[in-house]
Amino acid sequence: IKRIGVLTSGGDAPGMNAAIRAVVRAGLHHGLEVFGIQNGYAGLHQDQIVPLDRHSVSDVITRGGTFLGSARFPEFKEEAVRVEAVQNLKKHGIDGLVVIGGDGSYMGAMRLTEMGFPCIGIPGTIDNDIAGTDYTIGFDTALNVAVEAIDRLRDTCSSHNRISVVEIMGRHCGDLTSSAAVAGGAEYVIVPEVAFDQHELIQQIHEGVAKGKKHAIVAICENVCDVNQLAKDIQAATGRDTRATILGHIQRGGTPTAADRIMASRMGAHAVELLLEGLGGRCMGLQNNHIVHHDIIDCIKHLRRPFNEEMYQLSNTLF
Ligand code: F6P
Repeated sequence: IKRIGVLTSGGDAPGMNAAIRAVVRAGLHHGLEVFGIQNGYAGLHQDQIVPLDRHSVSDVITRGGTFLGSARFPEFKEEAVRVEAVQNLKKHGIDGLVVIGGDGSYMGAMRLTEMGFPCIGIPGTIDNDIAGTDYTIGFDTALNVAVEAIDRLRDTCSSHNRISVVEIMGRHCGDLTSSAAVAGGAEYVIVPEVAFDQHELIQQIHEGVAKGKKHAIVAICENVCDVNQLAKDIQAATGRDTRATILGHIQRGGTPTAADRIMASRMGAHAVELLLEGLGGRCMGLQNNHIVHHDIIDCIKHLRRPFNEEMYQLSNTLF
C-alpha cells in the first residue's frame, strides 16, 4: 500500500480536522502518500481529490469543522455511483481509504469494503450514536457547548423566575442531552429512548412550582416534540413564564476540546496502521480508553449502541 485517501462525510463534528491531520501525518511518517477527498462521498464521485502534505494540515488541530468539507450524499447508495467513485480512487493510485463520519458514512465505507476496496471508519459525529465505541469525535466538544448554554439559561431563568426548555441535538440518541443535563444540573430530562409523557412532565413541573420552585431547566433531545409548543403548554399549565431555546448548529462548531483532539489523533494514527497491516473493512472505537477496531459490516449490521441508562437515571436522581 503506497497511497491512501481520507474524507469526512455527513454532519461535521469538532475534532474531524484533528483526525484528518493524524491520518496525514501518520501516513507520511510511514512513507505513504496521502490524498484528501473534498466534500465527502459527493467529492469522491466528482473526483475532487487533492494531494496533502504535512503543511496542508498545519494549524488545523485547533479548528472546528472540516477543512476538507463534508456533505450528505444519499446517491452513494446506488452501485453505479460507487463504481465511478472506486474508479476515481484507482485513477489516483489510491489503495486504502479512511472515512471519518457518522452512521451514513460508515454505510458508504461498508459498501466500498464489500466491493473489495479497503476502508477504515472513524466515528465522527456529535451524536455519540455509533456502535463499537464509547465516544465519537465531537461529542465532548458539543457537550461542553450545551452545558455552557444551560449555565447561561439558568442565570437568566433564575433572575426572572422562568422555566426554560432547551433542545439539544443528538438525532435519535439521548447521550448528549442526558450528559448535558447531569453536567448542567437540569431539573428535567427527556430523551428519545424513554417514552415521553407530556402530561406527566407538566404534572411534575406543576408540583415543583407548587412547592415553591422558582425556576427550572428542561433538557430535551431534538426530534421528540415541538419545543415551542411544549413551552406554551408548560406556561399554560403552571402559570410560569416559559421559554424554549433550540441550541441547533451552535453545538456543531467551535474549537475542539483536548479530549476530542486526543481521541481523533489516536484513532487517525491507528487507522493508518491498520491499512498498512493490510486490514480493510474495520471501524475504530475507544472502549475503556483503549483504541479498538471492529468489523465494519458486523458493526453496522449487528452491533447496537446501548442506551446510556446510567446517565439518564443519574440526571433524574440528582434533580
Ligand atoms: O448528526 C449530527 C447532527 O447535528 C444531528 O445532531 C442533527 O440531527 C443533524 O446532524 C442535523 O443535520 P443538518 O446539519 O443536515 O441539518
